[in-house]
Amino acid sequence: MSKILLIVGARPNFMKMAPLYFAMSQTEGMAPVIVHTGQHYDYIMSQAFFEDLDLPEPHHYLEVGSGTHAEQTARVMIEFEKVLVEERPDLVVVFGDVNSTVACSLTAKKLLVPVAHVEAGLRSFDETMPEEINRRVTDAISDLLFTPSADGDENLRSEGANHDRVCRVGNIMIDSVATILGRISAEQEQATLDQQNLQAQNYALVTLHRPSNVDAPDSLARILAYLNKLSASIPVVFPMHPRTKKNIGNFGIDMEFNEDFLIIEPVRYREFITLQKNARFVLTDSGGIQEETTYLKLPCLTLRPNTERPITVAQGTNELVDLNTVEEQSRRILAGNWKQGTIPLLWDGKTAGRIVEAIAEFQARRR
Ligand code: UD1
Repeated sequence: MSKILLIVGARPNFMKMAPLYFAMSQTEGMAPVIVHTGQHYDYIMSQAFFEDLDLPEPHHYLEVGSGTHAEQTARVMIEFEKVLVEERPDLVVVFGDVNSTVACSLTAKKLLVPVAHVEAGLRSFDETMPEEINRRVTDAISDLLFTPSADGDENLRSEGANHDRVCRVGNIMIDSVATILGRISAEQEQATLDQQNLQAQNYALVTLHRPSNVDAPDSLARILAYLNKLSASIPVVFPMHPRTKKNIGNFGIDMEFNEDFLIIEPVRYREFITLQKNARFVLTDSGGIQEETTYLKLPCLTLRPNTERPITVAQGTNELVDLNTVEEQSRRILAGNWKQGTIPLLWDGKTAGRIVEAIAEFQARRR
C-alpha cells in the first residue's frame, strides 16, 4: 500500500486536492492522507470548502495561521516534519503556489520523501510575487511535475528539468468545477442570486487580494473608486478577501459607496461558482479564476501586469488590464464585443485520473 500525503493550506488548494483525493481513494494500493497546514483558518476560507467538496476532515491539521512569509513558511516546516516522521509516507503531493506548497516540498525532500507538484511549470516571470518564488523552488526539487498546459512544459524544459519528471495532465481545478456544476440545481442557483439581489447576466463579479493591488493605500483607494464608478453602469458584487478588508481598515479608507456596489463576505465554493456562471464579467487578480472563467467562457479582466497562466489570454476569455485600461475594456464587454475563447486541451474534468496513473507508474519504477 502506498501512503500518499496530500498537502493543502490555503483556499485555492482545496478544489485542486479534492478530485485527486477521491481518485486515489478508489485506487487499489493507494492510501491518501490529507494534511491541512492551517494557512487559511476562517470557516469560510477553509472548512466551508471541505463541506462543499464533500471532503472528510483533514487527517492532520497543523494550525500554523498567519504571519510574515518567513514565520508562516517556517511554522509549516516545523509542524510538517513531525507528520512526516510519524506517517513515513511514500509520496507527498503539493498543489499550486502558496507558502504551504513550498514549505512542505522542502521538508519532505530533506527527509528523502519524493514530491509531486500539481500545477507545475507556471511562471509569471515576476519575482515580486511571493507565489513565483514558491513555484520556482517547488518545481526545482519535485520528482514529478504535473503541468496543466504546454507553456508549463516549455518553462520547465528551459529551466533544465529532466523530461521524465514532466507530465502534462491538464487542469485539475476544472475537475472540481465540472463536478460542482453538476451538483447545483437551478433552484439553488436562483437562491444564491436572490440572496444578493442579483439578476443573471447583469452584474460584474470582483475578487482582489494580491499584495500588488491591495497592500498600498493609493492603489487600493483607486481600485475602490473605479469599482464604485463601474457600479453606476452595472451592479458590482465583491466578495472581499480578509486581507483586502483588513487593509481598508488599516489604511483608514472611508468612502461612500453606491447602492449597487455590494461588498460582501467571502463566499463558499458552490456560491462562488454560481456567481461566476451567471455574471456578465469578472474582474480579478486571482490565478484560478482566470482559468475558471476560461472554462466557463465568461469574459475576465485580470488586474495585473502579467500572468502565470498566459493560455487564458491566448486561448481563453481573459485579458490583462491596469487602472488606465480597465474602464475601456469593461465598456467593450458591456457592449458585447469580447472574444469567445476556446477551452484548452485536457481541461476536461479528467485530470485526477491521469495523475493517479502517472503516480502508479512512478511508484512501480521505484520498486
Ligand atoms: C494566500 C496565497 C495566495 C492565494 C491566496 C488565496 C501565499 C503566499 N499566498 O494569500 O497565493 O492566492 O492565499 O486566498 O501563500 N486571513 C484571515 N483568515 C484566513 C486567512 C487569512 O483573516 O483564513 C487574513 C490574515 O489577516 C492574513 C491575511 O489574510 O494575514 C493574508 O493571509 P495569507 O495566508 O498570508 O495570504 P493570502 O493573502 O490569503
